[in-house]
Amino acid sequence: MSETIVIIGAGHAGGQAATTLRQKGFEGRIIMIGDEPYVPYERPPLSKALLAGDIEVERTYLKKPNWYEDKDVELRTNTRATSVDPAAKSVTLDDGAVLSYDKLLLATGTRVRTLDLPGADLDNIFYLRAIDDTFAIKDRLTPSSRLVIVGGGYIGLEVAAVAVKMGCTVTVVEGLDRVMSRVVCPEVSAFYNDVHTQAGVDIKTGMGVSAFEGNGKVEKVVCADGNAFDADIVVIGVGVVPNVELAEECGLVVDNGIVVDEFAATSDPSIWAAGDCTNHPNSLLGRRLRLESVQNAVDQAKTAVGSMLGEPKEYAEVPWFWSDQYDLKLQIVGLSEPGDEVVVRGDPADRKFSIIYLRDGVFTAINTINNVKDFMASKKIIAAGRKIDPALLADAETPLKEL
Ligand code: APR
Repeated sequence: MSETIVIIGAGHAGGQAATTLRQKGFEGRIIMIGDEPYVPYERPPLSKALLAGDIEVERTYLKKPNWYEDKDVELRTNTRATSVDPAAKSVTLDDGAVLSYDKLLLATGTRVRTLDLPGADLDNIFYLRAIDDTFAIKDRLTPSSRLVIVGGGYIGLEVAAVAVKMGCTVTVVEGLDRVMSRVVCPEVSAFYNDVHTQAGVDIKTGMGVSAFEGNGKVEKVVCADGNAFDADIVVIGVGVVPNVELAEECGLVVDNGIVVDEFAATSDPSIWAAGDCTNHPNSLLGRRLRLESVQNAVDQAKTAVGSMLGEPKEYAEVPWFWSDQYDLKLQIVGLSEPGDEVVVRGDPADRKFSIIYLRDGVFTAINTINNVKDFMASKKIIAAGRKIDPALLADAETPLKEL
């Protein structure tokens, strides 16, 4: 009898897993459960081109809607899995249905971290994680809007760039002393701070939001130090948390994500996990980590499928990320850490440069700004874990490829 594989989560990892299963010739039943009304889609455009109105929603879809029917993938949208019974190998859905599985993939992703502050339930306060969030924000933004963004990370700064271009009055309130501090060094934070300021965004760092005020709708964002900013709309982007509750309930090991091995296998032999929700080892980096990225969703979903089909291949990829703000493409390869030596390659004033991170002399990570050549060359160098003379790296005339 043919096997049934159930995929919980119809995001990038879930969608990739279904695709890879069929590409690899899996002929059994595939059931994919997603709580959103859409087919699996890419999230990066949500805070960029989709919000700006530069693309239609269909452009975000991983596959056209008819692909699922054509490939006999049973996609159940608007549906939540409410529990998993690992002993019975079954999944219960919020519509009451109970599905049996032979193998289960948890691709449950992350959800936004919420700010549980006074006034947080006022109207016109939004988070941005799903297509419908983008539409809700877009519907309310007009050139006369005063938009206050809480969080100067990827989401906050990308939304700021789109909104200020629309003509909105934009303030970004960041709790730490610089923007994007989770992912880039102070030099890159300073560069982006300047770019946004020149574009007309008011960036306030080192300010913790303590409350939202208004009468029905939000009117003010209040900070702990007494500062307050008038607002018609608030967008909060203060990070995400992994969706691990189903895994916990069915007894899997969970520790900042669903704990999997290098083959995306969990502590249950019939359950695998992939994407933003996993805590996984990476032998290239020599440690465990949880990643929030398209690269990880795609590559780890492929790893999980390989294991499920009895063709295990270790997951060991160099992480990479990107962020589009204005005319600037920031691409990040590898993971930098505070204390890394920083080498600047090129002149930030040209709006094209790179920052290389060395740890004990080893080329560990890079941030490229409008510098695709450096981005392309870096993956191999970082995977090789090589020491390179900082003076050579600083010479922007020497292609990284040659080093
Ligand atoms: N007040 C102000 N700023 C805060 C607060 C707070 N109470 N809490 C956190 N922050 C700031 C953090 O210091 C950080 O700079 O919010 C920012 C959050 O940035 P990210 O961690 O990059 O998270 P976010 O922008 O929400 O993006 C979430 O979506 O773009 C994807 O996968 C990407 O991981 C990313 C995810």
